[in-house]
Amino acid sequence: MSTPFSQEPAFSTNPGQTKRVFVVGATGYIGKFVVRELVARGYDVVSFARERSGVDASTSAEETRRELSGSTVRFGDVCDMDSLIRNGIRGERFDVVVSCLTSRNGGIEDSWKIDYQATRNALDAGKEAGANHFVLLSAICVQKPRLEFQRAKLRFEKELTESGLLWSIVRPTAYFKSIAGQVEAVRSGKPYVVFGKGELTACKPISEADLARFMADCIEDPSKQNRILPIGGPGKAISARQQGELLFELLGKEPKFKNMPIQMFDVIIPVLTLMAKLFPKLRDKAEFARIGKYYCSESMLVLNPATGKYDPEATPSYGTETLRDFYGRVLKEGLAGQELGAHSMF
Ligand SMILES: NC(=O)c1ccc[n+]([C@@H]2O[C@H](COP(=O)([O-])OP(=O)(O)OC[C@H]3O[C@@H](n4cnc5c(N)ncnc54)[C@H](OP(=O)(O)O)[C@@H]3O)[C@@H](O)[C@H]2O)c1
Repeated sequence: MSTPFSQEPAFSTNPGQTKRVFVVGATGYIGKFVVRELVARGYDVVSFARERSGVDASTSAEETRRELSGSTVRFGDVCDMDSLIRNGIRGERFDVVVSCLTSRNGGIEDSWKIDYQATRNALDAGKEAGANHFVLLSAICVQKPRLEFQRAKLRFEKELTESGLLWSIVRPTAYFKSIAGQVEAVRSGKPYVVFGKGELTACKPISEADLARFMADCIEDPSKQNRILPIGGPGKAISARQQGELLFELLGKEPKFKNMPIQMFDVIIPVLTLMAKLFPKLRDKAEFARIGKYYCSESMLVLNPATGKYDPEATPSYGTETLRDFYGRVLKEGLAGQELGAHSMF
């Protein structure tokens, strides 16, 4: 397979100088691809990471260096401003900050700690280092905020737009990892599980490499600056049922669905919410149930504020890798790199 990364030169506002980009969240599903894309375009990239990173902290410092090769990898704690400045920025100048940070579990406290505060730290540290542009990986679902991680993201988005820096807020639709969860079960003969008839939600999934290209484009493309940028993958929006049908088609099997009632959440959520009042340790469990309902009932598409309906046509497409390509690849090569970690509970 040819390299998925573009081979474009990095433009420079100061002749003779390569733009310096500081990346936080570099070890995430999208962050890794963003780092590789920036490196391939010739930017001078510094990746800031934890000593143990990745899903379930399973990646060692050495592996992280290998995965992010071509960039300078520095270790420290993005939640701690001193560490960010001392171990990450190190008194150097940067032109751009890119954040692909997000809470690994979507819990209430962790979302505010990472999606808001750690990202805010990166903005403040970048500003100190002379950066004039901040590229934020956000999520399309913040347009209808019902969940704590969405509120944390929105608070940061607002502060970013008021920061005085150029900003690019990228709001992608669904990632392939989020709709790959049933591949192995279906291959082994189980039905594809959908809520309702599988037509409650739709999305335009986008691959890691395509999204990384879009994020990197933000640095040089003025039409992607000081803008909120919803973005999906190529082709038409695809419902949950169509995702299942495609999988059965590629496996050469007769489609078989299990229909779950969305109303089950209307029992689970109030019970967990009440129990969380008595036992605060259950607050995250109640939030995970709300997250579960949200993803089973809301489309990852642009919301038309006038109609209150999701609009597939208004959701921009970018890139080349389709869900068909993705399913075809994982059926041959397996699901490595598509692990959800703590997110798998919803
Ligand atoms: N899943 C979807 O379908 C979807 C769709 C649209 C938008 N999004 C959004 O896309 C963004 C990126 O998602 P992703 O799947 O690439 O995220 P991810 O794989 O979960 O990566 C999260 C990144 O944040 C870092 N991080 C988390 N907690 C940290 C902590 N306490 N200290 C330091 N670093 C920490 C992680 O570092 P470690 O490796 O050290 O843990 C990792 O680099 C998020 O804003 C998400 O909401 C997701």
